[in-house]
Amino acid sequence: MNLNVKALFITFAGMIDQTTIQQILDAAEIADVVGEFVTLKRRGTSLIGLCPFHNEKTPSFNVSQAKGIYKCFGCSKGGSSVNFIMEHEHLSYTDALRWLAKKYNIDIREREESPENVKERNDRESQLIISEFAQKFFSEQLWDTNSGRLVGLSYLRQRGMRDDIIKKFGIGYCPEGKDLMTNAALKEGFRMEFLEKTGLTIKREDWIRDRFAGRVMFPIHGISGRVIGFGGRTLMQDKTIAKYLNSPESDIYHKSRVLYGIFQAKRSIIQQDKCYLVEGYTDVTSLHQAGIENVVASSGTSLTIDQIRLIRRFTNNVTIIYDGDQAGIKASMRGIDMVLEEGINVKVLPLPEGEDPDSFSRSMSATQLAQYIKDNETDFINFKTKLLLVGVEKDPISRAKLITDIVSSISVIPHEIVRSEYLKECSRLLDVREEILYNEIRKLKTKTEDEMIKHQERELIREANVKSQPVPLPVPENNPCETEEIELLKLLIKYGLHKIFEVENPETGDVETINVAGYVLSELDADQLESVNPVIRAVFDEYAVHFEEPNFDAIKYFVNHPHNQISQLVSDILSEKNKLSEFWRKRGSFIEEEHEILYQLVPKVLQEYKLRYISYLIAQTELGIRKASEQNDFEAVQEYQKKYQKLKAVEKLLCGHLGRRTITG
Ligand code: CTP
Ligand code: MN
Repeated sequence: MNLNVKALFITFAGMIDQTTIQQILDAAEIADVVGEFVTLKRRGTSLIGLCPFHNEKTPSFNVSQAKGIYKCFGCSKGGSSVNFIMEHEHLSYTDALRWLAKKYNIDIREREESPENVKERNDRESQLIISEFAQKFFSEQLWDTNSGRLVGLSYLRQRGMRDDIIKKFGIGYCPEGKDLMTNAALKEGFRMEFLEKTGLTIKREDWIRDRFAGRVMFPIHGISGRVIGFGGRTLMQDKTIAKYLNSPESDIYHKSRVLYGIFQAKRSIIQQDKCYLVEGYTDVTSLHQAGIENVVASSGTSLTIDQIRLIRRFTNNVTIIYDGDQAGIKASMRGIDMVLEEGINVKVLPLPEGEDPDSFSRSMSATQLAQYIKDNETDFINFKTKLLLVGVEKDPISRAKLITDIVSSISVIPHEIVRSEYLKECSRLLDVREEILYNEIRKLKTKTEDEMIKHQERELIREANVKSQPVPLPVPENNPCETEEIELLKLLIKYGLHKIFEVENPETGDVETINVAGYVLSELDADQLESVNPVIRAVFDEYAVHFEEPNFDAIKYFVNHPHNQISQLVSDILSEKNKLSEFWRKRGSFIEEEHEILYQLVPKVLQEYKLRYISYLIAQTELGIRKASEQNDFEAVQEYQKKYQKLKAVEKLLCGHLGRRTITG
């Protein structure tokens, strides 16, 4: 039996032991840490330099060694060494500590980790290390072996790629042959298990083989610069062979959450406050070669929400540069609405037909390219108008369709002010009165309003639900959300496959039905809510794994579960007398049967759960503030206070939904 009790210990607690944290904080001298990224000059008692967080020509960035803090008088960012690394490297509190520990060669003593937890972490680490090895190996092959130079390097040079770019992106070559890379790794003492898990090696019963043999290798880096996967390009012309082969999903590589080039681009994205979005590996490298470094690619997937959110950590401005063909235009259209929906300003750079950013940027000088971008970058309204209206300006039906199309794009923008600016622009361009556009939008909005509130709420919960702790807190003895979690489980187990909603897929127009399980699980996942009780958590996890299997009978499965605590819990849940209808009766309605009102009941229970969860987080945070101030750790106090405010905001939103009032003060 494969019981998925992932972490028996509470994941809320940071995993680094308190003494180690102190050791790290002691070692991380502010000028030394900041000095790694900023050139500092002494002025009086402090050090000054150019702020790395905003663009400036005269230094307003101050470091005080006596106080151990930095402060920018231009953009007002400031804090400790840890804050600096968090901000600069875009890391969580714990990851910033790890970063510093590495810099100062401090061994991290982890605390309170279950064996499963340790194994999981070690597994990931092993996969990262083996990926790093592979990257080095491929790179050596490319530069230092005859075949690598003749085949791989000459291919890249033939494409016009400069050596410095090849090195900057760590591009390499996986030698032809069955298993040269695998053998090299095994010889170095790496384990087959991890070669297989990262997909570098394909292993079957009676043979093994290098996945990427004979391909030019583009390593894919995570945000902090570690290699997490690869894209391998074939050198064959044969159309039946996949041009690119990518690493499979693994513990370290989730393609929908990765942007190729983000590590090499992040600094420039922040500095330019803008990100170019392209489709392929070579689009990224060629733009770098032309001096444009704030560029990432969604390589190998069509753009995902997670990828957009990754960009949004660095900037609010995106320009899409896709291929100048039909497929590219279609992908841009889809990209535009997704990006807008996340509250990001979007522009489009159309390319001549038949060109992609790679070919186009190589066809001219860097200056010409910069000029082309300047002249041709258009906002999405212009882009759509040009595309959809050219030649049919006089046709009222085409015009009406275009207007609806553009207005619906505008309607997804979360910010009121931005929306109204775009409506003005649209009114001017299409020569339609603004009132008419507002009217259109109102019609659309009633449909989407609910979703917008939801969206806002989700953002807040996500932000506030950060599980790092500036000062470690004790784990609660009782599960604070037990009642609600059990209600949810009961709904899942009894009615998981009942349909509750129908939604129209905006792209295809198809109507999809959503069942209770799909809805509840995706909500929990989106807000990353999980029980502090390992048994409850296990039921949720196992349910998620199995519910889509044909003939899955949840009641039978759990009631007969080999793990005693699980079967016991579920039997109790199912035999409990009508707690659910009681829940409903409180709201003055008990006429309907449970299963007839699922569409109301399930969202309500979910909201109740979220609210309870937030109250629990609020209580924890208050405790954090108290503990941190007892320890005179003012930074931690501040951090907790920030979190507290966010949580309060979420609480307010949730209460709004439930028609309740919060007690302020
Ligand atoms: N891609 C992929 N698998 C394929 C083809 C493409 O994963 N079989 C991804 C790659 O990330 C690729 C991107 O989609 O970079 C864009 O594809 P395409 O335009 O076909 O490739 P280019 O980037 O133009 O590659 P090249 O210039 O090397 O031909
Ligand atoms: Mn290309």
